Amino acid sequence: MIKTIILAFLWAVIATAAWAGWSAAPWVPSKTKYRRLFLGRIPINEGDTVYDLGCGTGTVLIDVLEKYPNTKAIGVEISIIPYLVAKFRSLTRPNMQVRYGNLFRTNLADADVVFIYLLEKAYPKLLKKLRGELKPTSLLVLEAWPFKGIEPWKIIKEQDTLPINLYRGEDLQ
Ligand SMILES: C[S@@+](CC[C@H](N)C(=O)[O-])C[C@H]1O[C@@H](n2cnc3c(N)ncnc32)[C@H](O)[C@@H]1O
Repeated sequence: MIKTIILAFLWAVIATAAWAGWSAAPWVPSKTKYRRLFLGRIPINEGDTVYDLGCGTGTVLIDVLEKYPNTKAIGVEISIIPYLVAKFRSLTRPNMQVRYGNLFRTNLADADVVFIYLLEKAYPKLLKKLRGELKPTSLLVLEAWPFKGIEPWKIIKEQDTLPINLYRGEDLQ
């Protein structure tokens, strides 16, 4: 019995990690350098609702809460191990919420800031979703690759870093 449960859990861990890699990106955490760079420069207001779509172990959300303790930080994750780690880390942080689920099925109508670090292959589906759900004033923080053919509102870059592209909801229309 215990062997079956362990095998089923291992199967679920592998299957959900594979699903994440196929769907939008495998778990590769944002580097500290990048988190510091964009958190120091993006306009987040106290009271904002901030999403990390594909939140991994929740590190971006925790950094956001350390700098802006009165924001509501919401993470969505589909891969079981990173999800469990993020969920555990959220237990002692009342303003951090971690949901198990598919980021493409997460409604973003209440989002003020959305952080995304995913592979470009996810962008066409993602753009369609963001266009339909983001408020004109919402801020999208895109790490690594920009949206092709859409002028970013702002680019954050230092000499030795890749650019972080910022878009407002209205820029995506
Ligand atoms: C490149 S990692 C970024 C992790 C975190 N946002 C960070 O910056 O440190 C992408 C994350 O998205 C998750 N992911 C991929 N596809 C997903 C989906 N359809 N729904 C929810 N999470 C997904 C992966 O499991 C992975 O943890």
